[in-house]
Amino acid sequence: MATYDLVVIGTGPGGYVCAVRAAQLGMKVAVVEKNATLGGTCLNVGCMPSKALLHASEMFEEAAHSFARMGVTVSAPKLDLPAMMNFKQQGIDGNVKGVEFLMKKNKIDVLKGKGKILGGGKVEVSADGKSQTIETKNIVIATGSDIARLKGIEIDEKRIVSSTGALSLDKVPGKLLIVGAGVIGLELGSVWRRLGAEVVVVEFLDRILPGMDGEVARQFQRMLEKQGFAFRLGAKVTGVDTSGKTLKVSVEPAAGGAAETLEADVVLVCIGRVPYTDGLGLKDAGVALDSRGRVQIDSHFATSVKGVFAIGDVVAGPMLAHKAEDEGVAVAEIIAGQAGHVNYDVIPGVVYTTPEIASVGKTEEELKQAGVAYTVGKFPFTANGRSKVNQTTDGFVKVLADAKTDRVLGVHIVGREAGEMIHEAAVLMEFGGSAEDLARTCHAHPTRSEAVKEAALAVGKRAIHM
Ligand code: FAD
Ligand code: NAI
Repeated sequence: MATYDLVVIGTGPGGYVCAVRAAQLGMKVAVVEKNATLGGTCLNVGCMPSKALLHASEMFEEAAHSFARMGVTVSAPKLDLPAMMNFKQQGIDGNVKGVEFLMKKNKIDVLKGKGKILGGGKVEVSADGKSQTIETKNIVIATGSDIARLKGIEIDEKRIVSSTGALSLDKVPGKLLIVGAGVIGLELGSVWRRLGAEVVVVEFLDRILPGMDGEVARQFQRMLEKQGFAFRLGAKVTGVDTSGKTLKVSVEPAAGGAAETLEADVVLVCIGRVPYTDGLGLKDAGVALDSRGRVQIDSHFATSVKGVFAIGDVVAGPMLAHKAEDEGVAVAEIIAGQAGHVNYDVIPGVVYTTPEIASVGKTEEELKQAGVAYTVGKFPFTANGRSKVNQTTDGFVKVLADAKTDRVLGVHIVGREAGEMIHEAAVLMEFGGSAEDLARTCHAHPTRSEAVKEAALAVGKRAIHM
């Protein structure tokens, strides 16, 4: 029987990163993966394919609408959807190969099959009707998450799709109805709208992007509406009639009331994700779950069974690849006897639409609710030189700082490249920096990041270019 220091179940960004870090620290490591390819949701049906399609569809839209005003004359671009899907697949394959390479480089055994925990110290790996049992000192559960379903609405991944089907449609739907104005709805809605679909988003709450700063969400909604998105807020989908050529979707006010019927060619259900623990044998092994079906852990990622840990989407916290990765590093270090740690106050979140939204730390709503006195500094991209010359002036930067100490508590950006710009704020916050620190840091000119410095200056009411 093979014996290991660590067996990681699942090779998403949580699992594979944990395995690499553990191997770096001298452990003998194996990963178990039930899918044909490594990389989990993120590489295969999540972050990576969605970003490939967002990039390609953005180029398509730019070629059609932005080139001419810069004096670049091209004939109207034509969509070759199979080629675009091939571009997406090449991106997936390249990244999956990268993970395979990392496993080899770090001498990590890859065991293909479904992993089941047979109590602390033993994992059964089953594939194609055969199974083997391996022994290990430690186990990390990194089995990720699965799509949440709407009662009574069956996802066939053709006409009623989850994000997985929406990443592989074989033609552009005439009408796309999206259930849920969260991250997936707005990102994949953007892809198909740019390629020609009419997009309607039905959202249960009275706002889009719950959890994001309210002002950011309101302004962003207006930008999306200008792009052609239609929103039905405070509404819920109660059924989809699939009998005809077009889908007939019943939509009701969330608070109750008369239903109306909307027609759609494709319905995308993206109302969140749920932890995935199917077939892991957690109950028999004695691994406790919380009330929402997530693996329960303590502050050191330890479950209720000694030597069994859990990280990533399968535990509490934001379902983000970089959160899973950082937990993977931290738990490997803890198992190795080091002081692994994740700072949950400084986890950036990015929505990769055009413009992008990026945020780190507290929102205004959270600060108000916690009774924290804060000051706000805002700076619009319309006043940023680089954005003006590129004619991409949508959006703004908002810095929230503690009213007494000036310590930065949150930064929120709507604007092109916001996802790249947010990290200076994250580093600043990791070091407990102030708005004054950010404002006095020299920023290269002309860059869009100067808007971050100006927003920090605006906290002290001394922005220069406004
Ligand atoms: P996963 O990536 O879900 O990996 C879990 C792995 O475990 C899978 O490979 C699964 O097959 C395997 N597994 C499960 N059970 C077993 C078992 N019993 N035996 C063996 N193997 C098993 N996050 C971002 O930060 N940025 C983004 O841009 C982003 N975009 C996204 C877009 C979409 C469309 C979706 C759906 C998600 C996106 N996410 C994004 C979220 C991100 O994908 C997840 O947060 C991340 O993948 C979680 O990593 P993980 O390692 O916890 O789990
Ligand atoms: P989400 O949690 O972001 O949004 C779901 C939305 O659906 C919410 O606005 C919610 O109010 C709404 N909703 C719930 N039930 C509903 C109902 N019955 N009718 C109408 N609306 C309803 O979830 P989403 O978009 O499915 O994404 C899942 C996860 O994947 C997210 O937690 C996110 O962290 C991750 N992700 C991250 C990305 C990124 O970082 N760029 C990109 C895509 C996904």
